[in-house]
Amino acid sequence: MDEHNLSFLQTAIEPYIPLGRSGLLPALHAAQNLYGWVSEAVANEIAKTLRVPPADVHGVIEFYSLFYDKPTSRHVIRVCTDVACGFKNADGILNHICKRHGLKPGQTTEDLSLTIEPSPCLGLCEHAPAVWEAGSDQSSVISENGAIHVSLNRRPPSIVGGPLRLLTANCGNGTTSLAKYGKYSAFTKALGMKPEEIVDEIKASGLVGRGGAAFPTGIKWEGAAKTQSDQKYIVCNADESEPGTFKDRVLLLDDPHRTVEGMLIAAYAIGASKGYIYIRAEYPFIIPVLENALKESREAGLLGENILGSGFSFDIEIRVGAGAYICGEETALFESIEGKRGFPRIKPPFPTTHGVFGKPTVINNVETLCNVPLIIAKGSAEYRTIGTEKSPGPKLFCVSGDVARAGVYEVPFGVTLRELLEMAGGVAGGKQMQSVLFGGAAGAFATSAHLDVKMTFEDLRGVGLPLGSGVVMVFDETRDMRDVLKRLGHFFAHESCGKCYPCQMGTQRQMEILARIAEGKTQKDDLVRLQDVGWTMTDASLCGLGQTAASAVLSAMKLWPEIFRDEGRRLALSEVEAMKDESAKSGKPALSKVEGLKVGKKKDESGKKVAKVARAQKPVKRVAAGKKVSKVSKAPKASKVKTKATKNVTKTKVMKKKVVAKKSRK
Ligand SMILES: Cc1cc2nc3c(=O)[nH]c(=O)nc-3n(C[C@H](O)[C@H](O)[C@H](O)COP(=O)(O)O)c2cc1C
Ligand code: SF4
Ligand code: FES
Repeated sequence: MDEHNLSFLQTAIEPYIPLGRSGLLPALHAAQNLYGWVSEAVANEIAKTLRVPPADVHGVIEFYSLFYDKPTSRHVIRVCTDVACGFKNADGILNHICKRHGLKPGQTTEDLSLTIEPSPCLGLCEHAPAVWEAGSDQSSVISENGAIHVSLNRRPPSIVGGPLRLLTANCGNGTTSLAKYGKYSAFTKALGMKPEEIVDEIKASGLVGRGGAAFPTGIKWEGAAKTQSDQKYIVCNADESEPGTFKDRVLLLDDPHRTVEGMLIAAYAIGASKGYIYIRAEYPFIIPVLENALKESREAGLLGENILGSGFSFDIEIRVGAGAYICGEETALFESIEGKRGFPRIKPPFPTTHGVFGKPTVINNVETLCNVPLIIAKGSAEYRTIGTEKSPGPKLFCVSGDVARAGVYEVPFGVTLRELLEMAGGVAGGKQMQSVLFGGAAGAFATSAHLDVKMTFEDLRGVGLPLGSGVVMVFDETRDMRDVLKRLGHFFAHESCGKCYPCQMGTQRQMEILARIAEGKTQKDDLVRLQDVGWTMTDASLCGLGQTAASAVLSAMKLWPEIFRDEGRRLALSEVEAMKDESAKSGKPALSKVEGLKVGKKKDESGKKVAKVARAQKPVKRVAAGKKVSKVSKAPKASKVKTKATKNVTKTKVMKKKVVAKKSRK
């Protein structure tokens, strides 16, 4: 539709008018579905209708990658170029599709019939390479070099394995109806319990959050339950944007009622009357499934007013993100529901007292909520027979990369990495394993030395590996880790929201250095510079994104220091291997050869110096708040890459100025 024709706009956004500012994201989605993009006239009309300042509407459009303020087609092909797809010729597929249509990545045809762009992880890593076609008619769907294509009407298959089928009991065979799932027997049991008994049961189960932060769920619920308020909320975090994570996609697509039942139990336990499922826009095929599940539950009297005659009322609204990894961070997610840019809030206060709309809120990951009906149905004691003492319960791992059978694996906590990889058929093509990325882009690398480590929170923590959101991405011996790191660097620079300086600048610098290294143009002191940037982001960033943006890079430095050497050229893999051998024979770590690093002595428990280990100099300066932060080396000038940070700090200011200028002209 012509962007100048505003006649249908009011009808499209009408359902969101009562929501006020909170209706901004749904209204922008509706407008974009009509026009393909949001012109200034459309944005201003939405601003007027929802009574949101125009500058704020423009700021929101700018913030989210999937809203466009320039002419863009309704038909967009997005090719994932993140790590797992990068291996499977994603760049080649993107270039091939672009060439066929005479476009460059990020461009739109003149007649607005097609836009093609690269995309961060689409949550389809087990099917890599992945392509998402938005707004296409089915006849135009193309199959490129074996890439999986998803669209609103084309759902990806679910590959589920492992010895347990508790959380995934109904997964792998299409979507489960309420009739098959059953009328929420765990929730019915919960209704016969006192809310505080439910909280106690969840506490006793030892359930900790599966979204990445591993916070004890019962304690979180207790905090919200004890806070007095006229209104409380349950939020299901289905943003699932951590590269390498796709378990929540499978749970929601195949068995949506399990999550809804988990939310109901949580709501009853804390006294909430409203819930949100915040789902990433990259999962369009799940939205009708969720809508249908909610409809089924309402019709069965399991959602809505006076549920099953208990006097308890609760209902759920679906909110769709718009392409922002940071909106998986709980407080950024609240801002997004409230119709704002996804800037994380400073904590405390915590969501249990000041969550969405400033009200007490429990936010849980999809997998966490799926554990809840299981705990209530079985009882915490029986639940604890699964897994280990400190990590009870079942766990879903997202196994992808160079394995024979990538997919979601449900296992008890405590299986070893070796056992998990054996379940997935081992390294594909009979090759050797080089490494495994744990926990996603914000994670760390393991090697074959970690094969017998138990997959529990405590065991992994003990060897410096994060369990995170359950990512296990395997790299075989032929993979160039420099390319992997370059893609991770690009991801964080693209996704940093720009609110705080260490992350805004640090992710940009990190991306530039990693790109240089991948191209074999390493500069003198790049390793030290990269370390300083990494430490600074880790120590001084405001939220978890910046605090973990360097984790994988810093872990790679410990494992493969040679790939960060300033050779001025790219080393062949055989040369790297030779260096490793030489270093192993001489007992001298390769790191000690790099300028700017000191060789220190390791001390044993008694404080005696025992062996030489490489240690980097870590200059420390104090900032006003008294917090220690490491000094950032002077880095070369930034290249201009369009990221959320640059978009939001610079462009929003420009936009605000524009709007102000326009106002004053009137
Ligand atoms: C940058 C960033 C992205 C995140 N993305 C997600 C996500 O996609 N899904 C999720 O459940 N938690 C995500 N989290 C963690 C949430 O902030 C929060 O801890 C979680 O939703 C709480 O649920 P849980 O206790 O059930 O894990 C993210 C955190 C950060 C810092
Ligand atoms: S750490 Fe990064 S993502 Fe988090 S608030 Fe700061 S700039 Fe934004
Ligand atoms: S879908 Fe491509 S890396 Fe996840």
